[in-house]
Order: sequence, then C-alpha cells, then structure tokens
Amino acid sequence: MAAKNMIKREGGKIRRVVVVGGGLAGLMTTIKLCEAGVPVDLVSLVPVKRSHSACAQGGINASVNTKGEGDSAQIHLEETAYGGDFLANQPPVKGMADAAPGIVHMLDRMGVPFNRTPEGLLDFRRFGGTLYHRTAFAGATTGQQLLYALDEQVRRYEVVDVKDELGVGIPGERMVRKFEHWDFLGAVLDEAGTCVGCVAQDLKSMQIRAFTGDAVVLATGGCGMLFGRSTMSVICTGTAASAVYQQGAVYANGEFIQVHPTAIPGADKLRLISESARGEGGRVWVPKDVRDRRDPKEIPERERDYILERMYPGYGNLVPRDIASRAIFKTCFHERRGVFSPDTGRNELEVYLDLTHKDEKFLRDRLAGVLEIYEKFAGVDPYRNPMRVFPAVHYSMGGLWVDFEADASGSLKVGSPRNQATSIPGLYAVGEVEYQYHGANRLGANSLLSCLYAGMVAGPAVASYRKGLRRSAFDVPRSVFEEAERRHEATYQRILTQNRMEKHSEGDIENAYRLHADLGELMLRDCTIERDNGLLSGVLAELGEMEERVKRVRCTDAAPRVNQGAPFVRHLENMIVLARVVAEGAMRRDESRGAHFKPDFPQRNDAEWLRTTLVQHAGPGEVRFVRSFDYVCAGERVHVTDAVDTSLVVPRERRYEHAGAASAKSTAEQEGASS
Ligand code: FUM
Repeated sequence: MAAKNMIKREGGKIRRVVVVGGGLAGLMTTIKLCEAGVPVDLVSLVPVKRSHSACAQGGINASVNTKGEGDSAQIHLEETAYGGDFLANQPPVKGMADAAPGIVHMLDRMGVPFNRTPEGLLDFRRFGGTLYHRTAFAGATTGQQLLYALDEQVRRYEVVDVKDELGVGIPGERMVRKFEHWDFLGAVLDEAGTCVGCVAQDLKSMQIRAFTGDAVVLATGGCGMLFGRSTMSVICTGTAASAVYQQGAVYANGEFIQVHPTAIPGADKLRLISESARGEGGRVWVPKDVRDRRDPKEIPERERDYILERMYPGYGNLVPRDIASRAIFKTCFHERRGVFSPDTGRNELEVYLDLTHKDEKFLRDRLAGVLEIYEKFAGVDPYRNPMRVFPAVHYSMGGLWVDFEADASGSLKVGSPRNQATSIPGLYAVGEVEYQYHGANRLGANSLLSCLYAGMVAGPAVASYRKGLRRSAFDVPRSVFEEAERRHEATYQRILTQNRMEKHSEGDIENAYRLHADLGELMLRDCTIERDNGLLSGVLAELGEMEERVKRVRCTDAAPRVNQGAPFVRHLENMIVLARVVAEGAMRRDESRGAHFKPDFPQRNDAEWLRTTLVQHAGPGEVRFVRSFDYVCAGERVHVTDAVDTSLVVPRERRYEHAGAASAKSTAEQEGASS
C-alpha cells in the first residue's frame, strides 16, 4: 500500500520525521511540520535552549520600514545579493526578504520582547551592509529571546496527541518527542540510497540507536571549531555535515568562512561584541601614532584614526563584515598599527571599539546584554572605556548543498519537495549547516532570518515529500536500521579502544585535544582572512598528516556513561575531513569574492568563478570537485549545475568605498555617476 497520508504503519508505528538540531532552524522546521500534521522526533546535541542560536546578539533583519525610510523587501534582496558578492542563488534570497516582515511580526505575537519606540512600534536599528534601519532586536540577546519563544511553541506540541487520518487522537503518541543530549552519527540509507532515518548516541547512557524517519532534517549549525577558537559555540564542529558528506551529500562553497570584525580577544571560546554596538554608534579606531601608549580615554579625537569611517565614508563602521575585518587586518597586521598592549609589550591585532561617547541609559536599553559580557570577560567597564576587539571566525556561509524550486515570480515555490533538499533523497538541511542564503559573505542579522525562513520552507517541503513517498521509512526492514546501529557501535568501540592495548612509545600516541588545537591553529593562520596558494598547499599537506595522526589518537576517557572523550574524537575525525573541503575549495578558487580573499588574485572574476563550488567525498583524504550532478527528489531526477541564479539582481562590482546613498539602488546610481 502506498505510504501516502497514513499516519500509522504496521504494528502501530507512527510515521515521524526526524529533525536534528534544536536551534532556531530546527525548531521552526518542527513547528511547521506539526502544523502540517506531521509528527516529529526532535534530536538535539544539547538542551534546545542551549543551541548556538542563543548566542546571536544583534537582531533579525526585516524591511518593515517603520521609520519611513523607503526600505522594502526588494532593497533587502538587492543588498543581500550585493553584500554576498553575488554568489547566492537569488530566488531563495528573495523568498527570505519577502517573508522577513511577516516573520518579525509573528515573533512579536509569540511574545519576543523586542525593543520598541516610545510610540510602541517595533524599533529597528542599523546593521552592516545597509544604510536602513532594518534590524529588529531584543536588546543584545535577540537570539536567546527568539530561541525561548520558539521553544515554548514546540513544547506545546510535546503535549498534543498525534491524530490519525480521520482526525482521531492516538493516546500516548505526542506530536513532538524530544531527545536532548543525543549526538548525530549518520543518516540511515536504504538499498536505493534514500534516507530513512538516522543513528544517534545518547551522551548520558552512551546508547547508540537508530531513529526511523520518513525524512531527516539536519539543523546542526556551522563548523567554527575547525578554526579552534571562534565566536561559535564549542558544539559547532560540523560533525553532522561531515558525516553525511562522507555518505554522499554534496557540499557547497565550503571555502566561504566569515570573520566577524569585533570579538573579545581570549584564549578559549571567543565572545562576540555584536555589530549592533556599531549599529548604535560605536566607532572603531586605533591611535594615529603607533607608539602611543596612553590610556585610550586620554588620546584626543584628532590623534585617533577612525579607520572604517576614513576608508568607507558612506557606510563607515557598518560596511559588511568581510570588508571591515580586512580593513582591521590590514591596519593591524600589515601596517602594524594595532593597539599597544602593556601585557605583551607589542602592537596587537586589536582595535578600539568605542561607545563611551554614547549616553549610558541609551546603551543599557539597547546593548546591556553584550556590554555585560565584555565587562565579565575583559574586566573593563565598556560604558567608560573603549573596548579592545579583534576579528574572529564567526560563520560558515558554505555548507551542505540544498535545492530550491522557483515560482513564476522568481521566489520560492512553497511546498515544493525540492526546497531545502540535499542531494541524498529524504535528507534535508536548514540553517547554518547549509549554504543557500548568503553567498560569499553574510550580512549581519540575516542569519536568524535565514534559519527561520529555511525552517518555514522546509516544513511544507518535507510534508509534500512525505506525501509522495511510495514506501514509508517505517516499512523498511528493521535489518537496515540494525546494520546501521552495528556499524556506528563498531566505530565507537574502535575509538574507545584504539591504540590502547598495543605497546607504543610516547611519540606514537596522539592526544585528541592537542591535535584539535593544531588543526585550529593551522586553519586560523592560513585559511581565514587572507589566503595564499603557497600557504594553502602547506595546509593541505599538514591536513594529510593530520589524517594519519588522528588514527593514532588514544581516547583519554573510558567511562561507560557520560563519556565526553570518545564523542570528541569522533567529531575531530569529522572536522579534519571538513577542513580539507574548506582548504581545497580555498586553494582552487583563484579570485577574491566576499570573505574569500587572495592577495595574488585581488579581483572578483565572474567569467571564471561566478559559480558554486560543489564537492563530493571521494574516499579518505580525497575531495572531488564537480560542475554538475543529478539527484532524485520525490521520484524525479533533477539535474544540478554550479551556475548561480542571478536572475533578479544583475551582478556588479562591490564598491562600498564609493557608496554613501541610502539604498542599494541609489548606491548603484551614485557609483554610476561617480565612475
Ligand atoms: O554582530 C552580531 O550581533 C551578530 C549578528 C549576526 O551574526 O547576524
């Protein structure tokens, strides 16, 4: 019998979809699936309220235009495409920009405590890459507030019974079953290569089990941990993306890694100082005299170099992040004009981010959450002292390749099973784990938006995919799942026991944490703000060595419960695989575009490189670049190429240094006039 529309299968099993990841993208997907009547197993590495979305500070973009500036979804689309250096397929970006105002109003109705104007309207602040006030915000803890609001919505479904085809409730079967502290190990593929579930490990009991799902949606976030220290949470290892990439999912634009201009220098996980600090008037500067060792408050205005305002008079401190980070890097690294540190006795890769000219009450209303973080970790009062900040890895624009289907208006065809589908049938991806919305550089405050929008699109997409299934995953022989469980159990036992019994000299054994530190240092040094092919060949050679070194890791934790060491080794193995994707992509792309900058190829080269980097795993240590591939979605074969859909905004050179007008359109006009 066709699986169509049946909720229950043989033996009373309820047909569910598995959503992996409890951040904004995963929660929104879950809500949309529930609205479509599809029961969900929600699997999350951490308690959902601890997901990395909680770290987002500054806000969410939507062209609500409450300030009467003439902002619109069209301008939001244009600025996102321009800011991303035209590497994003434009229909999904249009869909996102069009949906944004409705999303913010929905969040408002859910009870998100957005800041408001004195008249009671939603307030909007400025952010990078636009001159409009387009960013709705809840102080500087916006991600946390959004996450908590969505968590509440999902909790409602945890106590709602699943209904059968006749609308009769099935007692004891809830719409959402939540599994927190479960680590995703891999997709379960049937004999035809269709995803019919996934395997995960309970990080308390260490039990490994398969979850059956008519589809699996990955919402597992970015891969900042490849770079050791980043503003991303320590859970952002990219392990899930790497696992399914090794199972055949195509990975896209891996080389595009965003460096945020302003983080708090630190030795461990880096804390962000939100772009909203600049959106609210914060100014970036260094002393004009490189030998100036005075307390910054004593350095008069005329002896300060406001580098971004000088270089980019139109956008000033709010140029897009790739541009701001490069300007800071040039000043501090190449010109050695960073702020002097009495601790190290040298000029550091640090600049001042100064809010001391702003009224304290104003700052407390709008930025208290992030300024508190600065005070806590730097031990300095940011209301009275300029903050010391530096550029840090922040976001992965690249990720799992996902599909979309455009409608006649050039936006997304809502409900198409192709939307958010990876190249593995039945496997979907949403949020930072996928590559779709930001091109070569993400504009600040577009990430919360893209997570929510992708979830809103993925829910209906998966619901229609599921309707069209000829065979439910719940009718696949149990042996398929048992075999997958056995394979992952064997890998886990291998990790626990490898290099334990044999006699080894000390040098033969590797420590996973040391190896991870080496990986991070390598990637951070030679694969971030500036890339050089000579150095990248060195990175690839060292990654080759790391691929061998990881085999010599001895797990330092043998605990049968709550074992933290062995899962880390598993993540590390997967991180090394993904690091190669990033580095090989960077090596190959001989141009500069968005966050990918090669001084030897300083121009964007559309003739050669206006295309998506597509890679497939070709065995250990092997990356295969492809220009096209076919995949099957809901029974249809789809041909995919690396061409970028730029049907809505014509690519043009990015020239933020010349821009000063209030919109992308008028910016373009101005550029035209000035050239
Ligand atoms: O700077 C920030 O508040 C970060 C926002 C974002 O990455 O979108």
